Amino acid sequence: MIIPVKTRDGGYDIIMERGSLSWVGELIGKDGEGKLSLIVTDDGVPAQYAETVAEACRANGRAEILTIPQGEENKTMESLTAILRKLVELCATRKDRVIAVGGGVVGDMTGLAAALYMRGIDWINIPTTVLSQVDSSVGGKTAIDFAGVKNVVGAFYPPKTVIIDHDTLSTLPKRQVSNGLAEALKMSLTSDEKLFALFENEDPFAHLDEICERAIRIKKAVVEEDECESGLRRVLNFGHTIGHGIELACGGTLLHGECVAIGMVALCADRIRPRLLSVLDKLGLPHEAACDPDEVLALCAHDKKAEDGAVMTVLCRDPGSFQFYLMDFEKLRRRIMTVVRG
Ligand SMILES: NC(=O)c1ccc[n+]([C@@H]2O[C@H](COP(=O)([O-])OP(=O)(O)OC[C@H]3O[C@@H](n4cnc5c(N)ncnc54)[C@H](O)[C@@H]3O)[C@@H](O)[C@H]2O)c1
Repeated sequence: MIIPVKTRDGGYDIIMERGSLSWVGELIGKDGEGKLSLIVTDDGVPAQYAETVAEACRANGRAEILTIPQGEENKTMESLTAILRKLVELCATRKDRVIAVGGGVVGDMTGLAAALYMRGIDWINIPTTVLSQVDSSVGGKTAIDFAGVKNVVGAFYPPKTVIIDHDTLSTLPKRQVSNGLAEALKMSLTSDEKLFALFENEDPFAHLDEICERAIRIKKAVVEEDECESGLRRVLNFGHTIGHGIELACGGTLLHGECVAIGMVALCADRIRPRLLSVLDKLGLPHEAACDPDEVLALCAHDKKAEDGAVMTVLCRDPGSFQFYLMDFEKLRRRIMTVVRG
């Protein structure tokens, strides 16, 4: 299946097919004629995925693999520098390319390196986590964390192609699968009632392909309308305002999707909360966090979405619909208290 995504400067295809990694050469080979491909992965991603891609690229070009240390704590200037340095060492030219094989951390950093090297070279994204397949594969946002702030240095720089092979998820730990499903659940709540029904009535772990496709189509529709996050794209922040504060206040003990899940519980209407909680139970996602509510509030107040005494939030009253709402700090505090126990 091919899902085309339009951008200001053209667009790219998301190719989604189980087993596609094994014929990746057919998908990206023609474009790689005579080129150097630097494949970037991390040491938590099974090495065979990057090796398969490298082998395919070597059929008609050069290929090298760079493995960086895994984890958000390595989404740094040092890792970005390592990618750029490798490109220089390999004498990569403007016609060469980088290929990300891994989760959102590898994808975001590789995309940023592509944007910077010689003012922009091609990059291909091969996401291998649920989160990166349903979310970061669409939209062209690239970034690293810097000076203690998440994703603060980055660029809008879409890939040339995205290749999604759900078979790569067979090696992903279950907690990471649930973590990614939280983002798809978020999109269902704001934008796709039928997808929410799937989460409620079926076993989501048995429907990863369909969930991923529906989530990608939602995100595609949003980013095509608002590529550079000036309006509608903020709907994707549902659950993130409070979730982001919790993520920081909990000092990395909870995964991003887990914090988004808690953030959604805080900002959904009372009438759908019980339904959301039972889906979270099914997915093994938490309802609340143990950290300091005042710290969460302070972090929300410093969030880039905060305005004078208030924060722009996304509320959900019924599955498949949302509202933007400028929430003052007192109201926000009360919402935080419903999900954070100090
Ligand atoms: N660009 C965007 O639009 C966008 C959107 C959402 C999130 N993000 C970013 O994505 C990042 C989170 O991505 P993530 O959740 O994929 O985390 P991640 O990249 O850290 O991957 C999670 C873990 O899974 C391992 N892993 C990856 N693929 C695997 C596989 N197939 N089998 C076994 N292990 C595997 C990794 O080594 C890592 O330890 C964050 O930095 C976030 O900011 C970006």
